[in-house]
Amino acid sequence: MLDKLEILPPDPILGIGQLFNEEKDPNKVGLSVGVYQTETSHTPVLAAVKKAESDMLSKQDSKVYIPQAGDPAFLAGMNKLIFGEELLAANSDRIASIMVPGGCGGLRVGAEVINAARPGADIWLSTPTWGNHFPLLQSAGLTMQSYAYYDSLKGVVDFEAMLDAFQQIPEQGIALLHACCHNPTGADLTADQWHQLFDVIVERKLIPFIDAAYLGFSGSLEDDCLPIRIAAQRVPEAIVVTSCSKNFGLYRERTGMLSFIGDNAVAAQSVGMSKARQSYSMSPFHGGGIVGTILANETLTTEWVDEVYFMRDRMNELRAEFAQQMNNKQSIRDFSFIASNRGMFSNLGINKEHVIRLREEFKIYMLESSRINIAGLARSKMDYTTDCIARVLTT
Ligand code: LMR
Repeated sequence: MLDKLEILPPDPILGIGQLFNEEKDPNKVGLSVGVYQTETSHTPVLAAVKKAESDMLSKQDSKVYIPQAGDPAFLAGMNKLIFGEELLAANSDRIASIMVPGGCGGLRVGAEVINAARPGADIWLSTPTWGNHFPLLQSAGLTMQSYAYYDSLKGVVDFEAMLDAFQQIPEQGIALLHACCHNPTGADLTADQWHQLFDVIVERKLIPFIDAAYLGFSGSLEDDCLPIRIAAQRVPEAIVVTSCSKNFGLYRERTGMLSFIGDNAVAAQSVGMSKARQSYSMSPFHGGGIVGTILANETLTTEWVDEVYFMRDRMNELRAEFAQQMNNKQSIRDFSFIASNRGMFSNLGINKEHVIRLREEFKIYMLESSRINIAGLARSKMDYTTDCIARVLTT
């Protein structure tokens, strides 16, 4: 039977990460997979995570199953974080959540719930969007549609085109939104634009499916939750997926939350739990246990928030330096947009030949789309990286 199968091509994101790991050149620069890195190209365990983990493990006296929806402390802490205390209290009977294995797990279960309610449903995605959105949502049965989002020449959101596209989505259509730090472009809506977009969402009775993987990496945690909070206040139904991979640095622990907002949220939650039960039964505990421990403790929460903002500020400094060096070293493309993009990613907007040359000649690894993970750019590698990019653009 298995001899019928063929080896599939590598994942477009993780595959480049793997190539980078296999690269022997000591000068190599890894800008592919979205992980935060320090100046020494290390992805550390956050201090608040270390403390919460050892506290949690010292108190843990059983590995018995947790409730099917997930660890109650995790769900309570995460819901308070994303909705804020007041909004959560006002909507307590309209919000129901499940702990899920990372953002991917949340997107997948969320898509399966959508597919149970509306088989083969259309879902509108930004152009471009995170490469894994397509296989994740499509394999759950949904039908991919797209909306205009990005002005690739200027490196910013083309908001007029986006609004226009949302006007064309049929009533009750489902639109996937990136809460902040748009992956792959780093180009985000302003607060004012979010309010304007939601005017259209409300008018057209659209259902937002919000992917929140980088909360705290753009503005404050509260600012970055803006679309989630507007959705809770203004639309009858929404779905939110929150990932703890990046802002808690819990990548390998696969930790996230899937929240349903609406009068029938509890039914949606039960379908979500049943979908999970049909494949992986229930979410693993470890990462959620750590997050629940942090969010239940004021001192640990403050320490964690400081660490999130430290990562955010450092990425912004790297952005500013990268943009300045690129603009000093060539005049073919104005890279100022990199400084105003937010989060881990930006699209350089260079062509595939340039990307391949950078990889093969200079050992600089980025996605074929020319998406870079700015957090992979240590200061010590900045000169070399900007020199090489300028070189391929000009020779
Ligand atoms: C990325 O976009 O690089 C990250 O979200 C990692 C992943 O799973 O693709």
